[in-house]
Amino acid sequence: MSPSNASLQFDVVIIGAGAAGLFCAAQAGQRGLKILLIDHATKVAEKIRISGGGRSNFTNRDLDVRAPHKHFVGQNPQFCRSALSRFTPADFVALVDKHGIAHHEKHKGQLFADHSAEDIIAMLLAECQAGHVERWQPCTVKNVEKMADSADATSVARYQIDTDRGRVQATNLVIATGGLSIPKIGATDLGYRLAQQFGLKLVTREPGLVPMTFDGASWAPYAQLAGLALPVVIGTGSRKTRMEFNEDLLFTHRGLSGPAILQISSYWQTGTPIDINLAPELDVTEHLLAAKQRSRKLIANELAAIVPARLADAWVAQDPDWQRPIAEASDKALLRLAERLTCWQLTPTGTEGYKKAEVTVGGVDTSELSQQSMEAKRVPGLYFIGEVVDITGWLGGYNFQWAWASAAACAKSL
Ligand code: FDA
Repeated sequence: MSPSNASLQFDVVIIGAGAAGLFCAAQAGQRGLKILLIDHATKVAEKIRISGGGRSNFTNRDLDVRAPHKHFVGQNPQFCRSALSRFTPADFVALVDKHGIAHHEKHKGQLFADHSAEDIIAMLLAECQAGHVERWQPCTVKNVEKMADSADATSVARYQIDTDRGRVQATNLVIATGGLSIPKIGATDLGYRLAQQFGLKLVTREPGLVPMTFDGASWAPYAQLAGLALPVVIGTGSRKTRMEFNEDLLFTHRGLSGPAILQISSYWQTGTPIDINLAPELDVTEHLLAAKQRSRKLIANELAAIVPARLADAWVAQDPDWQRPIAEASDKALLRLAERLTCWQLTPTGTEGYKKAEVTVGGVDTSELSQQSMEAKRVPGLYFIGEVVDITGWLGGYNFQWAWASAAACAKSL
């Protein structure tokens, strides 16, 4: 698979052999185009391999293609509507079925491979093989240059790519280098740098789908709860921008995690609070006031009927008025307890960063790209697909669906 001479010619060079790059290469190759796929990592598609706890949550059945803002974050979530409606979760499921990969739905439309994420990678590699895709991996990209524009730009080399395996030229260049999360498995900022090199605007990048951290001293009372999980309603934002999720929360040594926190983290603005209802299934005030009339138990024990006992104990430790039999508590103290439990306001000091984030929020500004083809409006033959674009999905298979759909849109128009 290694090049023997300089300046090999390809119809398309794709940088990044992750979800979007592999799928785009396969689709375009099967259309008869000569494709070179380049990746600097030793192993192919590491993020697919570790996704969904090793079983890859490869798409989501609940995706509403008419309302992408429901499941996607970005300056203009409507941008992804065209691609998502032309390559749907059902289309990807049909491919998975064609390859005989058993799968199941877990929660809220999330589809996982029954056996292993490796099956999804093997499927993508088989599709690339069917498209005669040439893959250089590991291969370092040293330099990318646009060559002189030609009148017949569809058939001549417009881009020159220097790599540690030699120089190649391509009519079209597709950037599928993903986001910044998990640098130790190959994430880099190359895609953003190339966007800047060609004069494209970027939206500020932040870690998304990421655990949140809190100030050491203020977190001390809750650190003992590490490992505890419970269903909550979590929210953030002003009245106009408010987002809410009904998901599981997980206490950690340094802060909070679990699906509830990961989801809200993609919307959270630094310095602003989040609020959590730790007992969303119940009217806590009513429950406590009723218990006061009939119970001789400690407040902590009554609370343990609503939330896990460890949380109940840690909670009452915050106020001496809560450390007594419920029959002896004032209504005011119980109302305060109910209020704090159902609207726990706290301001994260930060997040666990790209080391732990599943995705990057922000990226190549969608106003620079065609929503039909993902081609840069002002730079013919240059395309951006997948996570490098300022489109971020919710937890639950939405990010892969964006990778497949943007790749398919691009491949069709090459
Ligand atoms: P992706 O990251 O897949 O691929 C980018 C490729 O570019 C990589 O192979 C990388 O090596 C290469 N590259 C980067 N810099 C380069 C350079 N300088 N030169 C050459 N190559 C370069 N999503 C989902 O929908 N369901 C899920 O279950 C999960 N689970 C999950 C778990 C974990 C732990 C993480 C970190 C992420 C997820 N995700 C997810 C998110 C999902 O993995 C992600 O959104 C997609 O992989 C994005 O696909 P891309 O192809 O855009 O980037």
